[in-house]
Amino acid sequence: MPVMLDDASGEALITAARVVRLRAQAGYSGFKVGAALELADGGIVSGCNIENATYGLTLCAERVALVKALSDGSTRFSRIAVVADTLAPVPPCGPCRQLLWEYCGDIEVLMANLQGPTGRYLLSELLPLPFDNRLLK
Ligand code: THU
Repeated sequence: MPVMLDDASGEALITAARVVRLRAQAGYSGFKVGAALELADGGIVSGCNIENATYGLTLCAERVALVKALSDGSTRFSRIAVVADTLAPVPPCGPCRQLLWEYCGDIEVLMANLQGPTGRYLLSELLPLPFDNRLLK
């Protein structure tokens, strides 16, 4: 796996999300999304959205990247890039924010389209009052 310690702007991460987006199984919505999760060691795990005929069982790109990384044994993450072909930034949906928060903590969320970056936030800005295991004591 490549190590990209000098990718301060997130360019390589965004490129990985653009590349994996092309594999999206988005025949129902026509809305292809790519996500690339940066591991603490600089590695990248990517995922695309996977739709199916029930619609409701759709897997978002972010969650595909996350479950791939977790099941491969990764536990520490620093950023995620999300790419769609839209002028406006496409942020992770609510359920994805919840899972990213629980497993990745307060990572940076980079958004981009096919031309360039469209937004940059901390996950805590997107999910300001999270429900998480600190409340389950
Ligand atoms: N989608 C994602 O994969 N990530 C997002 O951040 C927003 C939405 C997908 C789900 C569905 O396949 C399609 O985009 C339209 O909602």
